[in-house]
Amino acid sequence: RRRLLLDVDTGIDDAVALMYLLATPGVSVEAITCTAGNVGARQVALNNLALLDLCGHAGVEVAIGSEVPLQVPLVTTEETHGDQGIGYAELPPPRGHISTRHAVDVWLEAVRCHPGQITGVVTGPLTNLALAIRAEPQLPQLLKGLVIMGGSFNYPGNTTPVAEWNTHVDPHAAREVYAACEGLPFEKLPVVCALETTERIECTPAHVDAVARAAGAEPEVLDPGERDGTRSRSSNAVVACLSDALRFYMEFHRSYDQGYIAHLHDLFAAMVATGEATFDERLATVDVETGSPLTIGQTVADVAGMWKRQPNARIVSGNHPEEVFALMVRRLADLARM
Ligand code: BDR
Ligand code: CA
Repeated sequence: RRRLLLDVDTGIDDAVALMYLLATPGVSVEAITCTAGNVGARQVALNNLALLDLCGHAGVEVAIGSEVPLQVPLVTTEETHGDQGIGYAELPPPRGHISTRHAVDVWLEAVRCHPGQITGVVTGPLTNLALAIRAEPQLPQLLKGLVIMGGSFNYPGNTTPVAEWNTHVDPHAAREVYAACEGLPFEKLPVVCALETTERIECTPAHVDAVARAAGAEPEVLDPGERDGTRSRSSNAVVACLSDALRFYMEFHRSYDQGYIAHLHDLFAAMVATGEATFDERLATVDVETGSPLTIGQTVADVAGMWKRQPNARIVSGNHPEEVFALMVRRLADLARM
């Protein structure tokens, strides 16, 4: 059984990642901690609670951490993910409640009570994890492993010419987390899923339709243009949620001339965490720019040992989008059939 602690800023692709994880046999989502990022932390928590209801997993603890980054003002991106963070999807108000515990306490209890058993999966800014490491410097050693969606090691980033969103939202937190991971044993080093590989996960309308058909639901046709802003007609709640969330994300990507597709960054990271996605990797020491207004949030990887520092990351250097979509269709169709 893979025991995962998720830290997310849900977020359309975070939502798809969560649906996939909840649908994957042998995976236990132990708790979900929420970071401000795509939308504010409270909205992130409400989105997660509503998704847990949708997927039949009410009862998983959902906690909020810091509602702002460590040092820079919070920016959110409703333009990318919609006012509520899950595009056009409209879920019933959640039945569960936001935990009374702080996200940092959730992290600390998980690793202290289950040392070497929990894999952390962070698909938002690294604020909560950085705070948890401040409180427990041994945290990276106490995890079984760590998967991070974040960073960009080539031009362009997706937020500035050099920076990826999650790292740009809280660059100081990212810097602290990478510093704390220096010198960890190989299997505990964070596996870093950066834009070079996550942007290859281009979800198209055909993938959404494939989920609907595999679930035995009516075909889900996401016509570019004609159906902009409209809602799914599916009577299947999972298909409708997926389709309404992704239609918004596809319209966003199209507005930036990237085509009628959606980059499912966080889904790929989730599949790395379950061990279902195969990938190539390279060892590196990663650091994050926090000073320069020009390049703040840029991730820099030393792959040649020039800094004379220990490695602190396994950067994913190659992945297989077809494998990711085959898994996505299978798992989400299983979820939709439930
Ligand atoms: C990351 O930024 C967010 O908008 C997405 O959810 C993903 O985690 C990609 O840069
Ligand atoms: Ca995210």
